[in-house]
Amino acid sequence: MTTTNDLRSLTARDHTFALVDKGRGMPVLLVHGFPLDHTMWQFQLGGLVDLGRIIAPDLRGFGRSVPCDRPILTMETLADDLAAILEALQVEEPIVFCGLSMGGYVAWEFWRRHGQRLRGLILCDTRAAPDSPEAAAQRLENAAKVMDQGVKFFAEMMVARLFCPQTAEKQPDLVAAIRQVMENTLPQSVAATLRGLAQRVDARPWLSQINVPTLVLVGEHDVVSPPDEMDSMAQAIPGSKFVKIPEAGHLAPLENPTAVNLAIREFLSNL
Ligand code: MLT
Repeated sequence: MTTTNDLRSLTARDHTFALVDKGRGMPVLLVHGFPLDHTMWQFQLGGLVDLGRIIAPDLRGFGRSVPCDRPILTMETLADDLAAILEALQVEEPIVFCGLSMGGYVAWEFWRRHGQRLRGLILCDTRAAPDSPEAAAQRLENAAKVMDQGVKFFAEMMVARLFCPQTAEKQPDLVAAIRQVMENTLPQSVAATLRGLAQRVDARPWLSQINVPTLVLVGEHDVVSPPDEMDSMAQAIPGSKFVKIPEAGHLAPLENPTAVNLAIREFLSNL
């Protein structure tokens, strides 16, 4: 398991980013979802470190990285931040990009903008489709409400959607820790990201062009990026592997780390 002692900081694009960087060998970049931070990968940081160099940053606006300094935080900006972080770390070898949910939305942009840096993709509990007009409007409404009332109501709303019922019942401490991470995020960062998420583009037309080994993982009870939708995504990516994780919702790597780590280990071992 990772601790705050493992956290280090670096400067990239004139901003300070916090990250964990552990192990040696094949670089694996773990990119968290929204509105979370690197601690959502705590079981992968512990469980995969013998397989490569595991790098888990806090994205701009989250965790201990720089607060968001702009009104709209786009997936493109987050992808470019990650490329700059890799450069600052002097990572020259191609990486495996492992993103959960928003981390997956960023993966599409990383593939489009920095594809030459990719050795493989792991897409966890994410979507290729953009927001519907109604969902985008709801995000903008929530952004305004967060700026007005703070993040607590939003964290409450998210917690109810992120975990499957078994996790909520059996792992209350885990749920409380994630709620705390969300509540600690500044309103301007949450609002800017909501605006960026609302305007992200449709990645579905790109799926057939992805030509790196790809693993697609989803919690069987995920209500944000449902298994059927992720199965269709996997079918559109040539040669990809699809794994459904039992007893997990949207945060499968936290909810069932044993099954997730097993799938990732097998994938990494065959690269
Ligand atoms: C996430 O986990 O990153 C979010 O649920 C993504 C989203 O709101 O679409």
